[in-house]
Amino acid sequence: MLATRLRFEAVHQPVLHLFPVRPARILDVGSGPGHDAASLAERGHAVTPVEPTPELRDGAMALYPDLPIEWVDDSLPTLERLTESHPRPFDFILVEGVWAHLTITERAEALPVLARLLSSDGALAISLRHGPAAPGRITYPVTASETSAIAEAAGLTTLVNVSTGSIQAANIARGVTWTRMAFGHR
Ligand SMILES: C[S@@+](CC[C@H](N)C(=O)[O-])C[C@H]1O[C@@H](n2cnc3c(N)ncnc32)[C@H](O)[C@@H]1O
Repeated sequence: MLATRLRFEAVHQPVLHLFPVRPARILDVGSGPGHDAASLAERGHAVTPVEPTPELRDGAMALYPDLPIEWVDDSLPTLERLTESHPRPFDFILVEGVWAHLTITERAEALPVLARLLSSDGALAISLRHGPAAPGRITYPVTASETSAIAEAAGLTTLVNVSTGSIQAANIARGVTWTRMAFGHR
C-alpha cells in the first residue's frame, strides 16, 4: 500500500469540485500511506492526517519527511485525541477507503463526530467500498442509502452520490466497486 500512489484527480474525480480552492484546513481520516495528505499539502493546504496503524503512520512520515504535516494517532468512531487537540472545525474532511472497515454501529457513531468536526460551509467526502476485502483485511457491507440516512440524522445533506469502478488493477480483478459520497451542513 505504501508504494502505490494513485493520481489524486483520478481517485477523487466525483468530489473534486468540493475541495477548497484556497489554502484550507483539511482532515484526512484513515490516511494510510499518506499519499492524499501529501497531495493536499503540496497544494498548500494545512492537512491533519489521522491513522491508527503505526506501520502506516511511520511509513507515511518516512515517505514525506519534508512536508509540513502533523501525523496524528487516532481512530474512528470517536477520534478522541484529535477532537481534544484540534477543537477548531475543518474546511474539508476526507474519509477515503476507510468506511467499509467500520461496522454499522461504528459508522453510526462516527458520522455525528465527523459532522461536529466539519465547518458550516465545509464538505465531508466518504468513499464506500463494495465487494470482497483485500487479502488479510476485514470489511463490512455498506450502502449509499444507509450512509445518507446516518449523515442526515447527524444534520448533514447529501451533496454527491456517484457509483464508480476501481482504478487499481487488483481491485478491478476482484470485482470491487465504489460509491463516492459527499455531505455538507448546507
Ligand atoms: C484502504 S486503506 C486507505 C488508506 C488511505 N485513505 C488511502 O486511500 O490511501 C484503509 C485505512 O483505514 C485505516 N483504518 C481502519 N480502521 C480505521 C478506524 N477505525 N479509524 C481510522 N482509520 C481506520 C487503516 O489503518 C488504513 O490506513
